[in-house]
Amino acid sequence: MSDKPVIVTDEASGKTLELPVVRGTEGEPTLSIKSLPKELGYFTYDPGFTATASCSSAITFIDGGKGILRYRGYPIEQLAEKSTFLEVAYLLLNGELPDQGEFDDFRRDITYHTMVHEKLNTFMTGFHYDAHPMAMMAGVVGSLAAFYHDRLDMSDPAQRMLAAKRMIAKMPTIAAACYRHHMGWPTAYPRNSLNYTERFLDMMFSVPAEEYKVSPVAAKAFDLLFILHADHEQNASTSTVRLVGSTGANPYASVAAGISALWGPAHGGANEAVLNMLEQIGDVSRVGEFIDRAKDRDDPFRLMGFGHRVYKNYDPRANIIRQAAHDVLAELGRKDPLMDLAMELEKIALEDDYFVEKKLYPNVDFYSGIIYKALGIPKSMFTVMFAIARTVGWVSHWLEHHNNPTPIGRPRQVYTGPVERDYTDISSRG
Ligand code: CMC
Repeated sequence: MSDKPVIVTDEASGKTLELPVVRGTEGEPTLSIKSLPKELGYFTYDPGFTATASCSSAITFIDGGKGILRYRGYPIEQLAEKSTFLEVAYLLLNGELPDQGEFDDFRRDITYHTMVHEKLNTFMTGFHYDAHPMAMMAGVVGSLAAFYHDRLDMSDPAQRMLAAKRMIAKMPTIAAACYRHHMGWPTAYPRNSLNYTERFLDMMFSVPAEEYKVSPVAAKAFDLLFILHADHEQNASTSTVRLVGSTGANPYASVAAGISALWGPAHGGANEAVLNMLEQIGDVSRVGEFIDRAKDRDDPFRLMGFGHRVYKNYDPRANIIRQAAHDVLAELGRKDPLMDLAMELEKIALEDDYFVEKKLYPNVDFYSGIIYKALGIPKSMFTVMFAIARTVGWVSHWLEHHNNPTPIGRPRQVYTGPVERDYTDISSRG
């Protein structure tokens, strides 16, 4: 495809307009349509933004056709094998891998901010014990602005970075507190001698009555899952964070909105939905029945953990997570019948014409729940795990927006309501 402008001709008025092609360092050629309303009087109609780039970004690159995912240019496979979540967080936030000194400073900053204001723990007690943890997360993270309002001058880059680090540091503390509230366990404070994922597991599972030792298998698995979930360019929750951020709203409010968007089963809520689905299928003998239901247009059932807006090939994260699920189960010496079921489902779906033609492959959520389950995470907390990791992506995009602001996000619409009509008195209606 060439970089020559595309000429649009409006047959009705006879006007023509040159639309420039914008090309990123790797991305597909993109038509810039900004001048269209002013020059020709048209808006564009693209429900679900299936054909629209909302911003330019230097953080994450996806080639959905080839199944490629890179953070700041580094292939996800290399980061998954060689890096750590905290190093990946530095990379996503700052654009480069840190040297040892930069990494030590970053780790110290993140560790320093792990505690939350004690009043926040009190605030949490207002929730009913069976509140969904994602509902609690959205509420509690939104409320952080009320606790840290002294450093919310968003025109100051240092305060923006501080807010971003605070959020990465506090998210595991808040997530664990949501779980403990549900369990009726006392608050667990962060143990800063542990690393990021160990500290999170300690806050999740330690109880005052027993000694708790973090399992190295669990800590390693979480670190990997957090790396794989850290960012995924302009997905629904990240676009939400950017859109809310574009209003000048503080980062806590922006990320709380992102958490709410992530909760949906078409997005991050799919990991919980996959486990529900596998339990509902129950046995390998019923896989065919559910594949048929997924193909039936009159049945709302979909294969959860399958399909993706961008990937029309195997999601590279799913490949890594499937192997990790095998490794974790083997290292723990466990067998999970749901793993066999998931593999059978995948095998049949990948051979089925419907899934082949529509290019529907397993996505990141298909196998992650099996790992979480093996490590003792309850289903309702699965999407919270996703939120902890994705916070890094959200704040990286929020910072990128503020470093190079675009106008407030404000799409247009095709109005389909009534045309103008006169108000009538209630006595003369009907
Ligand atoms: N099972 C059965 N059919 C499907 C599925 C599925 N999981 N996904 C898509 N299709 C069909 C869909 O019915 C449509 O068929 P047709 O063209 O005949 O109308 C076609 O494939 C295209 O689907 P779409 O809904 O138009 O595609 P989309 O890009 O708007 O949606 C998706 C992408 C991820 C929302 C969708 O594939 C889906 O609902 N998947 C299940 C939920 C899921 O696993 N979500 C996690 C996504 S990855 C992680 C994340 O984002 O958090």
